[in-house]
Amino acid sequence: MKILVINGSPKKENSDTMHITRAFLDGMNEVSENEVHTIHAACMHIEYCTGCFSCMRNGGNCMLDDDMRGILEQILESDLLIWSFPLYCYGMPAPMKALLDRTLPLSSMAMQKVGDRYEHVGQADFSHLRYLMICGCGFPNSKHNFEAAVAQFKLCFRDNHTILTVPESPMFSVPEADVVTAPRLELVRQAGKQYAATGEIAPALSSEICSPMIPEEQYAAIVNGTTA
Ligand SMILES: Cc1cc2nc3c(=O)[nH]c(=O)nc-3n(C[C@H](O)[C@H](O)[C@H](O)COP(=O)(O)O)c2cc1C
Repeated sequence: MKILVINGSPKKENSDTMHITRAFLDGMNEVSENEVHTIHAACMHIEYCTGCFSCMRNGGNCMLDDDMRGILEQILESDLLIWSFPLYCYGMPAPMKALLDRTLPLSSMAMQKVGDRYEHVGQADFSHLRYLMICGCGFPNSKHNFEAAVAQFKLCFRDNHTILTVPESPMFSVPEADVVTAPRLELVRQAGKQYAATGEIAPALSSEICSPMIPEEQYAAIVNGTTA
C-alpha cells in the first residue's frame, strides 16, 4: 500500500504527534510492508489558495506554481493519506490548512446532493483513497477540545475515514514519561495492525488510545509546576 503522511506540525520530525503516527505505521508494517512517504507541510512552499476557482473550471490546473502540484500528484498516487497534526486553536495548524485548501483542484465546480448535504463533484477519481486523522493535543481533555477538528475531517473526507485523537501528547517527547507513553504507543501499534488487517480500529481500543494517559489533575499540576 502507498501511504502519504502529511505532517502538519511545524516541529516536523520532533512533533509529539509524529510519535503516535510512527507507532501506527509500525503496526501497519507488521501486517505487510508499506511504501511510506512523509511531507512536512511547514517545509513545503505552499501559497495560500486565492479563491479564484480557476482550478475548478479548467480541469484541475491551479494558477499557483509551487510545491502543491507535486503534492496533488502524490495524493492521487496514494492509497492512504495520514493527516498527522497537533491541535492548534481547536483546529489544524496553518501550514496544513493551507495544504488542505489547495486540494481544491481535485474538485470541480459542479455540486451534488449527497443525503442532506451538498459537495463538489471530483475532477479525479479518488474513490480508492482512505483517510486517517491522527491528532495530538496539549490539554488532558478530549471533550470540548477536538470536536471542531473531528467535524472538519469528517466533512472533508466523507467516506473511508478513521480518526485517532490523543490528549496529553507533549508527554510523548518527554523520556521521563516513558512509563506511561510506551504502553500507549503499544496500543497505537496494535491499532495500526488492526487497521492494516481489517480497515478498522475496534471502538474499545480507539477509546483507550483517546483517553488521558495520566489523570487530568495530575497532568495539569505537572504542566503548571504545582506538583508536591
Ligand atoms: C498555537 C497553538 C495552539 C494550540 N491550541 C491547542 C488547543 O486548542 N487545544 C489543545 O489541547 N492544545 C493546543 N495546543 C497544544 C499542542 O496541541 C500540543 O503542544 C501538541 O502536543 C503539539 O504537538 P506537536 O509536537 O505534534 O506539534 C496548541 C499549541 C499551539 C502552539
